[in-house]
Amino acid sequence: MALNSNSKPFLLFNMILQLGYLASAAVFTIQNQCSYTIWPGTLSGNGAAVLGKGGFSLAPGAIVNLTAPSGWSGRFWARTGCKFDGAGNGRCITGNCLGGLNCIGGGTPPVTLAEFTIGSAGNGGKDFYDVSLVDGYNVGMGIWANGGTGDCQYAGCVADLNGNCPTELRVSGGGGSGSVVACKSACLAFNTEEFCCTGEHSTPETCSPTRYSEIFKKACPTAYSYAYDDASSTCTCSGSRYLITFCPRGSS
Ligand SMILES: *[C@@H]1O[C@H](CO)[C@@H](O)[C@H](O)[C@H]1NC(C)=O
Repeated sequence: MALNSNSKPFLLFNMILQLGYLASAAVFTIQNQCSYTIWPGTLSGNGAAVLGKGGFSLAPGAIVNLTAPSGWSGRFWARTGCKFDGAGNGRCITGNCLGGLNCIGGGTPPVTLAEFTIGSAGNGGKDFYDVSLVDGYNVGMGIWANGGTGDCQYAGCVADLNGNCPTELRVSGGGGSGSVVACKSACLAFNTEEFCCTGEHSTPETCSPTRYSEIFKKACPTAYSYAYDDASSTCTCSGSRYLITFCPRGSS
């Protein structure tokens, strides 16, 4: 009964669907679970399509879906403490970018980054993604892959690294409040070859974890803590949707 006369066209239809799927777009669902408004920024690499006009406001509890074309690469981060006028001019306390509300460049570190390369037909449809603390941390973030195949692991940093930030890496908020709004990477704070994996330390063999990167790694084991952190921090997944949550439950 199951193998009726429709099965052949159906199989063919499925194959076409799957081929299309491999070279297809990816949908990002961006969710704000923080108790405050954030202004996600997006930056596309290599002239890829700009998503979400480069940046937008996301109220607590709000969700936005963005569709990236096949082969897209880029990053997402949260901006906090922003003030924009009606024309979108203004700035943010963390993650600020050129362009105001609609970024035309990356966020000023320290920022927690979600980094993606979406598969294309050329690479068998494999997506690569990670959460990076290489540029520091401002807001907790998690990436969940949904419905894909492969190494579709969770990546993220839920711990409150602002609260646990070593004194010498802290960035305090404006208005003299003194509260910690972001935590610098040691590279950003000290700009040495050892911390930045440059010069004498520019290879995986000569750039080791430091006591600072180890603090990040311990708090957030599935995120990149320094430039040559182990490859297990990168996930490879095909045909997935991605949920990117800021302040995933349990983090502040
Ligand atoms: C985003 O996509 C998800 C999954 O398809 C859907 O459940 C949700 O309603 C969409 N949300 C918005 C705001 O479009």
